[in-house]
Amino acid sequence: MMRFSALLVLANVVSSELSKAIFQVAARGEIACLTVNGIRRLPGLTMRLFEWDIIGPNDLLNVTTTNGGMYYLEGQEDEIGLTLFYTEVWFPCEGPVFDHCINTAYHSQCIALKERRNCHLVVEFLRIPKEKHYVEDKDKNIHNAGRYLLGYDPISRTYMKCD
Ligand SMILES: *[C@@H]1O[C@H](CO)[C@@H](O)[C@H](O)[C@H]1NC(C)=O
Repeated sequence: MMRFSALLVLANVVSSELSKAIFQVAARGEIACLTVNGIRRLPGLTMRLFEWDIIGPNDLLNVTTTNGGMYYLEGQEDEIGLTLFYTEVWFPCEGPVFDHCINTAYHSQCIALKERRNCHLVVEFLRIPKEKHYVEDKDKNIHNAGRYLLGYDPISRTYMKCD
């Protein structure tokens, strides 16, 4: 019993110490796809920044829209243990992006859902490397994710989402 309560005290101390670690991330990059006229940057796409959790839903930390195909995202998370940040990009199943990008997997997955409203192909787990995480603003370290080009078949780490 003594040993058990001592363990509880220790667990509380350890978790309150660890929970003081607030990690921040910042990432920028470009989203593009292949069109009949070559590679084109994609404006107006929704991008979301997440922190992955072992248990329960992942935490949405920030949202932005690509501007001329470029994006910048930043956010922070108060996390115990493993901290894993990633971004997600949403390709709409209708409109100019859908019409111009010639990726066949994107098209066929959207077309399979065409009776549903407002569908997107979501590419997730674009990881922000651990060495880019920082605690204090003065150590800000923007991750340059470079260009993400909507993949050729087969598309991996994607899911379809409809409203
Ligand atoms: C979301 O990002 C903006 C800048 O892009 C930043 O000013 C804001 O603090 C961020 N929000 C959170 C909750 O981190």
